Amino acid sequence: MRVFFIGDIVGKPGRKILTENLPSIRERLGVDFVIANGENSAGGNGITKNMAEELYRAGIDVITLGDHIWDQRCFEGEIASIDRLCRPANVPHSNPGRDFVVVEKNGMKLGVFSLLGQTLMKIKSDCPFAAASRMYDKVAPLCDAVFLDFHAETTSEKVSMAWHLDGRAQAVVGTHTHIPTNDARIFPKGLAFLSDAGMTGPWHSCLGRKWEPILQKFIDGRPRPFVMAEGDDRICAVIIDIDTEKKRAVFVEPFIYPPFPNSAELWQKAKEAEAAERAAKEAAKAAAEAPANDAEQK
Ligand SMILES: [Fe+2]
Ligand SMILES: [Fe+2]
Repeated sequence: MRVFFIGDIVGKPGRKILTENLPSIRERLGVDFVIANGENSAGGNGITKNMAEELYRAGIDVITLGDHIWDQRCFEGEIASIDRLCRPANVPHSNPGRDFVVVEKNGMKLGVFSLLGQTLMKIKSDCPFAAASRMYDKVAPLCDAVFLDFHAETTSEKVSMAWHLDGRAQAVVGTHTHIPTNDARIFPKGLAFLSDAGMTGPWHSCLGRKWEPILQKFIDGRPRPFVMAEGDDRICAVIIDIDTEKKRAVFVEPFIYPPFPNSAELWQKAKEAEAAERAAKEAAKAAAEAPANDAEQK
């Protein structure tokens, strides 16, 4: 089972880059399920039913959310009618919406839920660790693999959640910070993990908003409207392969499109330079030994 999880979709630029590119990415990578965190889809603040439908048309199968869930007032009345979308499972039970989704495709079932972290988060929520155990017990019997979007601020809380669910769920991926992390790994009992998938939207920005007012607020402390940014749109995601028989993840790799110049490219160039140097040394050695060999033969 190949899962493609997309980090926080920010505004129209995020929706547009997915509409234009997700179908071909999905095809080329042979993805079975696409999950996306849509909490910033509406101009950076929340989501609406119309936008969820736009994301489904782009090829997303399941939408998860986060602390911006109720930013659009109309959404309280819409959430229950949107299939394949779940709210964080540890907000108080009186909130509308479902707390998990199970999707079926290619003869496989994937269970998805999201949770809010509590460290440095302002929204009211229950203990995510107790909720993770409760949700795992509820979702696992209904599917072949379980995926958690852990919407949290701190890396320590996210890594702790991975240890908490290793041996039970097959994947925990963090969202919320809008910055992709470089720590994709598989835990000892088969759980795929990435601290944060990053942001899908305009990177000429501060986390998707125009950077100038945010910088000014850091400098002088005065509040300003944080408006949507434009430019340098990118998709941030992670690819996860799960062996559904063994109930283990077997591959996890972050994905950014268009890619930033990255260490893989630098490493490839270094390897090519090293190979060229080795070949030159061997050629020089062979040339030096050639007269001696000729002499021995005579
Ligand atoms: Fe976000
Ligand atoms: Fe968030």
